[in-house]
Amino acid sequence: MGHHPFPPGFLWGVATSAFQIEGATRDGGRGESVWDRFCTQPGAISDGSDGARACEHFSRYREDIALMRELGVRSYRFSIGWTRVLPSGSGPVNEAGLAFYDRLVDALLAAGIEPFATLNHWDQPQALMPAGGWAARDSVDRFVEYADATSRRLGDRVKRWATHNEPWCIAILGYENGMHAPGLKEPRKALAAAHHLLLSHGRSVPVLRSNVKGGEIGLVVNLVPAHPASPSEADRTAARELDGSFNRWFLDPVFKGSYPADAIDDRVALGHLDSADLPFVHAGDLAQIQAPIDFLGINYYSRGILRSTRVPETENAPRTIPAPPPEAMTDMGWEVYPDGLREILVRVHQDYAVKRLYVTENGCAYSDGPDSSGRVADVRRREYLRGHLLACKRALDEGVPLGGYYQWSLLDNFEWQFGYSKRFGIVWVDFETQQRIVKDSGLWYRDVIVANAVDDEDTRERALRSA
Ligand code: FCB
Repeated sequence: MGHHPFPPGFLWGVATSAFQIEGATRDGGRGESVWDRFCTQPGAISDGSDGARACEHFSRYREDIALMRELGVRSYRFSIGWTRVLPSGSGPVNEAGLAFYDRLVDALLAAGIEPFATLNHWDQPQALMPAGGWAARDSVDRFVEYADATSRRLGDRVKRWATHNEPWCIAILGYENGMHAPGLKEPRKALAAAHHLLLSHGRSVPVLRSNVKGGEIGLVVNLVPAHPASPSEADRTAARELDGSFNRWFLDPVFKGSYPADAIDDRVALGHLDSADLPFVHAGDLAQIQAPIDFLGINYYSRGILRSTRVPETENAPRTIPAPPPEAMTDMGWEVYPDGLREILVRVHQDYAVKRLYVTENGCAYSDGPDSSGRVADVRRREYLRGHLLACKRALDEGVPLGGYYQWSLLDNFEWQFGYSKRFGIVWVDFETQQRIVKDSGLWYRDVIVANAVDDEDTRERALRSA
């Protein structure tokens, strides 16, 4: 049996986001965000729900901080609700909104938990949509204004700041696939949106630096290792294309100051760009996007296994990676593949030489609920977490400067287009009564944090077996 200690000071955390847990969407002067509006579109959310109540964290935050304290969590990654601070997308700021985050941060610090704030976890003010939302360059200034107002207020106490969460999701799911707010299906706008997100990130970095003395400033991206289903050229091309559009499109500008040439050509071939000259990139933009950052946050859930759709199955090589069986999938239909986390951490370290990395999200949806004694025995989640933490450990052993791990998520919550039907929490939430129950995975995580180590087998189960 292996016992795998983590480095001293490793940040054991949990993550949430404002819209997914806060509720109280009309309280405290909060303005409408694109997600409030999206939820009103018929069919947009699979269970017809919205964020109006969610986990009522806006009024129950003290209880939730107490839970984190019980679990021994050292750091809490949360997001600031953009429309709580700037209800209509541009000044004046809403004092009541900032005051809420003041109270939250103070309560975290009093509990000995380090706050880690994300500025944009997808809740852009709806008021910015008539101008085009992220597809419009004006959103860059609006975001910098918001970053400035928020960090001025909280920067004395919050030392770790991420600008955006998963710009790929905002731009591509929001503006190209229409699955997320604002629900557009316009690939050209998606590319402009991606650029404006990156530019607003880069332009906020110096602002955050000056408002947050001694802080760490970074960006959070979701990355997917792209594996060809067979060694055929067609499958390898499909994998390269996904890597280009998903991973490198966001990493290269930030760390190399350019968009990946092959991925630009792919977009031209798809008719999403007229030529390799990107019309939305102005002189000087890429230098600003490349502003040096202190960390990159990586959200990892699964890998991609790419089978070409351009070659008929019968003409393609036999698969060497079969499609994963249903039992290898979480409730999201995502394959459980822990080594992909090690792979992506090592790859980012080697290709981009980032100063520090955090796993800013990792977790799984399983529906296990309380049994008759009120216990939530979510063994699959515990094993998912164990596998991924051991992958982090292997990455550390390979020299990756990994500073912490944030489990997604503290609470079962509003999972975007799936509403309340997918449960990612290590704490069960009854959405009617708002009762919280720490799941077995949460108790296990608490033991990991206390030991600052992960065992590669469950000690109690082993003891039972050998008894
Ligand atoms: C990520 C999001 C997060 C959550 C998880 C499951 O893409 O950042 O808000 O929904 O997926």
